Amino acid sequence: MIDPKILTIDGPSGVGKGTLAKNLADELGWTVLDSGSLYRMVGYLSLKHNTKDFFKIRKKINLEEIYFEFNDQNSNISLFLEEEDLSNFIRNEEVAKLASEFAVLPEVRDYLFKIQRGFRHKGKGLIADGRDMGTVVFPEAKYKFFLTASSEERARRRENQLKESGLSVNMRNLQERIMERDNKDSSREISPLVPAEDAIVIDSSNLGIYELKSKVIEIIRS
Ligand code: DC
Repeated sequence: MIDPKILTIDGPSGVGKGTLAKNLADELGWTVLDSGSLYRMVGYLSLKHNTKDFFKIRKKINLEEIYFEFNDQNSNISLFLEEEDLSNFIRNEEVAKLASEFAVLPEVRDYLFKIQRGFRHKGKGLIADGRDMGTVVFPEAKYKFFLTASSEERARRRENQLKESGLSVNMRNLQERIMERDNKDSSREISPLVPAEDAIVIDSSNLGIYELKSKVIEIIRS
């Protein structure tokens, strides 16, 4: 059954999914699920506990204690685990690479699938961003978008994001890492990064956030 209270945004890194999700959430008064940060949480816990054994990592996750918080001041969405704000630890390329490695494992995807489904119907509508939101996690979503952008533009946006978080970056290195990660995400066997058949594909390369948001609002209200 189609669910008019779910909107999904999928696409590779740096296409503006997160920014669009936050802006839409503001406009519609809906909540946001930033699914990438759950994969990043697994990567971060792997580093912290120096293990690549997912079953050991899983024991460190208290399901009742995972939540997202919207910070009105900087418009950021933070992921909390047992009251610890993980945001500053998960937004770097080392954790992103690990997240992408764990993301190929069926046991990781199954586990996070259940957590992600738990974000439905918490009163408000839900905007879910990631790689397989419209295809696998929320196939019933009424509104599905798939964003694309040129690799140069995506690297430039990711560079700005990292700089804003106070991290230094080497642009060429960053572009290579992003492409490496996208290849991995698109070519994996389970839940690869592909648009859902019923998704609307938007190239965001030349769109500012305001234009992008307006375009999406126009589509969902039409
Ligand atoms: O969106 P992000 O850059 O924070 O995601 C980090 C990694 O997590 C990404 O390289 C692949 C993985 N991921 C995924 O496999 N499925 C999702 N729905 C979200 C992220």
